[in-house]
Amino acid sequence: MCGIVAIIGKHRVAPLLVDALKRLEYRGYDSAGVATLQDGMLDRRRAEGKLVNLEKVLAENPLGGTIGIGHTRWATHGAPTENNAHPHFCEGVAVVHNGIIENFSEIRDQLTSAGAHFSTETDTEVIAQLLASLLRSGKTPKEAMQATLSSLKGAYALAVLFEGENEQIMGARNGPPLAIGHGDGEMFIGSDAIALSPFTDDITYLEDGDWAILNRDHVEIFNADGNTVQRPRSKASSAYAQVEKGNYRHFMEKEIYEQPEVISHTLTHYIDFATGKVREVSSQLDFADIDSLKIAACGSAYLAGQFGKNWLERYARLPVEIDVASEFRYREMPLPGRQAALFVSQSGETADTLASLRYCKNNGLRIGSIVNVRESTIARESDVVFPTLAGPEIGVASTKALTCQMSVFAALAIGAGRARNTLSEAEEKDMVRSLSEVPRITGSVLHQIQPQLEILSRELSKFHNVLYLGRGNNYTLALEGALKLKEISYIHAEAYAAGELKHGPIALIDENMPVIVIAPHDRHFEKTVSNMQEVAARGGRIIFITDENGARASNLETMATIVLPNVDEFIMPLIFMLPIQLLAYHTAVFMGTDVDQPRNLAKSVTVE
Ligand code: F6R
Repeated sequence: MCGIVAIIGKHRVAPLLVDALKRLEYRGYDSAGVATLQDGMLDRRRAEGKLVNLEKVLAENPLGGTIGIGHTRWATHGAPTENNAHPHFCEGVAVVHNGIIENFSEIRDQLTSAGAHFSTETDTEVIAQLLASLLRSGKTPKEAMQATLSSLKGAYALAVLFEGENEQIMGARNGPPLAIGHGDGEMFIGSDAIALSPFTDDITYLEDGDWAILNRDHVEIFNADGNTVQRPRSKASSAYAQVEKGNYRHFMEKEIYEQPEVISHTLTHYIDFATGKVREVSSQLDFADIDSLKIAACGSAYLAGQFGKNWLERYARLPVEIDVASEFRYREMPLPGRQAALFVSQSGETADTLASLRYCKNNGLRIGSIVNVRESTIARESDVVFPTLAGPEIGVASTKALTCQMSVFAALAIGAGRARNTLSEAEEKDMVRSLSEVPRITGSVLHQIQPQLEILSRELSKFHNVLYLGRGNNYTLALEGALKLKEISYIHAEAYAAGELKHGPIALIDENMPVIVIAPHDRHFEKTVSNMQEVAARGGRIIFITDENGARASNLETMATIVLPNVDEFIMPLIFMLPIQLLAYHTAVFMGTDVDQPRNLAKSVTVE
């Protein structure tokens, strides 16, 4: 949801801003722009579309100056045109903004009746206009900034330049994250620490309501009341510096192949494989003392929660209610009795997930979160943080973050089962042993199935609609398969619980609708095979994703059968995720879509 960056440094800043924006492009890529101050004068370059377009504009018409701000946009208000691209200027004020100003039309109306002329359709322009009007009325930049912030309602991370003020940049945060980077005679602002990793790993995160004035060797931070505050400095993870594609064509491909390693790191954090037991951390949500658990998240993280629900209910006998966070936050549900809440988020910044967390917190629930970005808001507002050790995920479509979230849930299910006495020590050992095999099996499966899936994806790319079916955890896999396929290949895909087929979707079956059935030889197998037979009887084409036992037990004619090794049912979802990811990936590559930055999407959804 938009990335912002600002640098006050020693060198020509425009190329550095673009370098930082490249690391933020996953947040939005509709348009981009930079502005600098040179000899006290503001100038800017902007371009519609991806950052490469801005680079071309800058190559033809470079910008000087050692102080500047930059932006990569995911449009909310106003089309993604050059005119709506940030930075927005008004009478010597330049602003870049991530978020949504909810009272922008009110402010716009007030300023318009006082004679202001707006030149864009964005909500952000009101910030530049408001600052300019306050400067006109005689306020200093600092006074204007404080007064402006107190008028804004909504979510924002901002960076602001003032003409004539060659030695200062201002930043502010209310909602979306904002990191301040400390350099040697240079200071930086970024939407995240990854953007700043080429320059510094010495980071201060602003808190909600904070704003800051940066000069070359100092930052002063204020809270919403304008009082100076100290915020801690921390070292950003060294992994942030390593966000390169290496020999892979896309980040998504790299991230798929990193899974054996990052799943192993994540599992090791929660499980002591030497003793065959889960570590203390896995039971920190007081599982023995609660009667039920609420889970909320969005997109693939929500589906991780769905696997978590299935495992926690089955192995720990813990009732779990899960909802997508955009619904959860507005349901006004009662939260009586002994409950805890768990939120799942790669970025740790998703607006709906954060709002759901705050709802539960205000109702007195103990809050846990499974997050990949440890410094994120969701992590900071949780009582217990369960980190995923996936490293930075750059591809917009989640892969390794999801399987790491699932790995955490698998460990928590064992921890909860032990705490609630629903699993014996021997069962714990067996489950831990199964999990210990996941990194090895995922590594070999990825290499084994890749050629077949690459060929199959060419076939799949000829269709406009795809149906995914499964039962139990395989239904959750089906949902993820459909989500991944539509988001990166733009093929319309739907997932159904196989048992629901007869209740409606079977009407869609014909030779133009491939049906991908996920059915390893588990306790649902026979039932799902009956559903496959119903599809086959109606001329449907089946892509059958199964295991060796499942392949042996079925003699149905299929368009393709993908056979995975037989594994313990507990870890099946982690293994069966792989063909789903590779099928979506290769189909998208074959269709020539922008795999890492699919249209209309952004990785970190910090607005509703
Ligand atoms: C799908 C995908 C999204 C995210 C969702 C939540 O491939 O990546 O559905 O899972 O936007 O994001 P986080 O996990 O950052 O809260």
